[in-house]
Amino acid sequence: MSALFEPRTLRSVTVPNRVWMAPMCQYSAEPSGPDAGVANDWHFAHYAARATGGTGLILLEATAVSPEGRISPYDLGIWNDTQVEALRRITGFLRSQGTVPGIQLAHAGRKASTERPWRGGAPVGADAHGWQPVAPSPVPFDDGHPVPDELTVDRIHEIAGEFAAAARRALDAGFEVVEVHGAHGYLIGQFLSPHSNHRTDAYGGSFENRTRFALEVVDAVREVWPEELPLFFRISATDWLDGEPGWTADDTVRFAALLQEHGVDLLDVSTGGNAPHVRIPVGPGYQVPFAARVKEETGLPVAAVGLITEARQAEKIVTNGEADAVLLGRELLRNPSWARHAARELGGAVRVPDPYHRSV
Ligand SMILES: Cc1cc2nc3c(=O)[nH]c(=O)nc-3n(C[C@H](O)[C@H](O)[C@H](O)COP(=O)(O)O)c2cc1C
Repeated sequence: MSALFEPRTLRSVTVPNRVWMAPMCQYSAEPSGPDAGVANDWHFAHYAARATGGTGLILLEATAVSPEGRISPYDLGIWNDTQVEALRRITGFLRSQGTVPGIQLAHAGRKASTERPWRGGAPVGADAHGWQPVAPSPVPFDDGHPVPDELTVDRIHEIAGEFAAAARRALDAGFEVVEVHGAHGYLIGQFLSPHSNHRTDAYGGSFENRTRFALEVVDAVREVWPEELPLFFRISATDWLDGEPGWTADDTVRFAALLQEHGVDLLDVSTGGNAPHVRIPVGPGYQVPFAARVKEETGLPVAAVGLITEARQAEKIVTNGEADAVLLGRELLRNPSWARHAARELGGAVRVPDPYHRSV
């Protein structure tokens, strides 16, 4: 028996195995017009392939709660009904394959309005479908980035409302899991970290103030997201800013306990993204210890992510109790049927679509 292929139940949702797909932006929607932010054939084929490949749960990419919340003009959005309709086609197919459909709800804050990564990822202006970004404080992400507009308290409340509206739409679109994107230096992460949050009002300064917006978003989402469905939160466990003011692993553990009290069912533990030019000790499973620490010290279920590529490596993370599930990113881009290969290697069982029965 393989622990990686044991089901895992969160609230009323049972995920068939612990091989989950990490959210990965495809930057492949229309940048403007009636189809802006609408999932298309690319998104359908991309997610469908990972579902037929046996992935237990798929977290759709960072999907913006408002047009200004997109990382690039080409991101998926979930602020209108056309977008919901297109997403419903994807969730329907994922469910037909026994894969649990989840979606990451996001606002990019000061890291919004950039070019697609394969075109350099630089900030873009109105001539390339761009816009003026917003943030907790008027501090640019890096050289060459615009100074973002500082959010008013009214606008902060509105954005929490946009997350709730997005969660309502996600339910309507057929998702069974919602993940709030609090990681990688996007808007919520910008509030959490003293590196990017220089406010002196109720949303900046102390730990309590810096976590206020994140918890308001979680509360707003939890209020509309059904009791029986799980809510995830993705965090960057550290800014990797040794010796400088920043978000730390200790902050993460303290915050995880709060998230749990506010109805979060699982912490998806990543790192980095808020401060450019930091040194990150990248290597196999390098972020797993951050997830394991949260689980051990708070009891909150966690998912581990980051350079998890081998079946036995993933199995060990789950067997050791370091994480409840593994999230795979780039390895699932390389191999959509990673779960099937891992099941074969580990002696686990995975659903195989009927038309593929001769490949078992
Ligand atoms: C193409 C691409 C797009 C990504 N988009 C997102 C995203 O939308 N939201 C997010 O939280 N992380 C995003 N990430 C980070 C991944 O979710 C994951 O944390 C990271 O790739 C490390 O896992 P890996 O080593 O298995 O790829 C992206 C990564 C890649 C490669």
